[in-house]
Amino acid sequence: MLDRALARVNGWALDAVAPEWVDYVVSNTMTDFNRWFNGFLWTYELKALVEQVIDEAPGVKTFVLRPNQHWRGFQPGQHVEVFLPIGGDTVRRYYSLSGLPNDRFSITVKQTEGGQASRWMHQHLRAGMPLKIGHPQGRFCHQGQAKVLFLCAGSGITPCHSMVSALLAQPEAERPDIQVMAQFRQASEVIFWETLQQWAQDGLNVTTALSGLSAEQVCLPGLAPRLDAVQLQKHCPDLLDRDIYLCGPIGFMTQMIEHLRALNVDLGRVHTERFVVAEPPSASPGAEFEIAGAEVFFQHLNTRITLTEEDQGKTLLQLGLDHGVLLESGCCQGMCGTCKLTVHEGQVSGNSLGKAVYLCTAYPASRQLVLDA
Ligand SMILES: Cc1cc2nc3c(=O)[nH]c(=O)nc-3n(C[C@H](O)[C@H](O)[C@H](O)COP(=O)(O)OP(=O)(O)OC[C@H]3O[C@@H](n4cnc5c(N)ncnc54)[C@H](O)[C@@H]3O)c2cc1C
Ligand code: FES
Repeated sequence: MLDRALARVNGWALDAVAPEWVDYVVSNTMTDFNRWFNGFLWTYELKALVEQVIDEAPGVKTFVLRPNQHWRGFQPGQHVEVFLPIGGDTVRRYYSLSGLPNDRFSITVKQTEGGQASRWMHQHLRAGMPLKIGHPQGRFCHQGQAKVLFLCAGSGITPCHSMVSALLAQPEAERPDIQVMAQFRQASEVIFWETLQQWAQDGLNVTTALSGLSAEQVCLPGLAPRLDAVQLQKHCPDLLDRDIYLCGPIGFMTQMIEHLRALNVDLGRVHTERFVVAEPPSASPGAEFEIAGAEVFFQHLNTRITLTEEDQGKTLLQLGLDHGVLLESGCCQGMCGTCKLTVHEGQVSGNSLGKAVYLCTAYPASRQLVLDA
């Protein structure tokens, strides 16, 4: 009851007064009592209040969140870390931001079978509850290309939803040529169904693929059976001209990379966001590889490093940092994608997907390696 009333007051304060003023007043009146009474505003931490919970599809909920005065906005396609108070512990997970960037944002969470965080959020996260969150991160964002394909499956539609919504909000003359292909198991599991319909009505080329359907069962325009090389080419004949933004379950992404490779797509133009860490490689990383004298060139930083014997067994992130290269990182577990770069030349072992390499959990595997943002 008190929580709900406080949530309303907090919402009102943030709507009525510029966040900088809220920040000024709060930081000048920070007392233990204020912190105890209202830990959402009287805090130096970034927090968000749940404003609304929307049933998006069976087992999928969207949480509309109102961040406090420390929020500095986000770029469509980015994700946040959320800190969930579960069973006396703090459980940390990442969620892509769906929708348009403004003073509110949404996360859309699919309940994973046996999943600790997603189940807790579905069962316990209600309007009026505050959550500790991290600042938005990630570089899975539209990089200005003129022709793009958003290729996603399941909850992987969330960052694409955000990017497409933002691109559609631009004046028509400035918009890229956008195509969307989204795969779900069956019609009842489609996430953002109404939005997909609306995008199609607005003239976007939208294909909804249902992996549970056979080619004979598909009889409506805009519907496709499970995506494979044939379907990709059929529904997107100019695939080779497009930059591709790929996001979805790990199996789907691995298959799509294989289909795109078979269709001669330049994998350097495939931008990926992965929700689950891949299985660790079976071979011991870099065991066969003599590292002393090998070179890694970080093209985006115009920095070349020469490796020594001491670098043997170190991840690309660690050896970069040890040689003074300013590399970004987050979870250091191959999850969040903050450290992700593209392989331009050479080979890596460990955690990679197509041309994307997760530096924190990958190793050099050739004498010359060129990486770029
Ligand atoms: C950058 C990034 C963005 C993400 N954005 C979203 C998003 O927008 N929406 C969303 O629903 N999730 C998203 N995730 C996944 C999310 O962070 C959690 O991993 C997911 O909610 C499962 O957490 P859990 O605690 O419920 O499951 P856990 O208890 O961690 O795992 C339970 C079981 O489910 C498997 N599993 C974990 N995650 C998934 C998954 N995504 N799909 C299938 N199996 C899985 C695990 O391998 C394990 O076997 C994102 C992850 C990353 C790294
Ligand atoms: S994937 Fe998170 S830091 Fe590498």
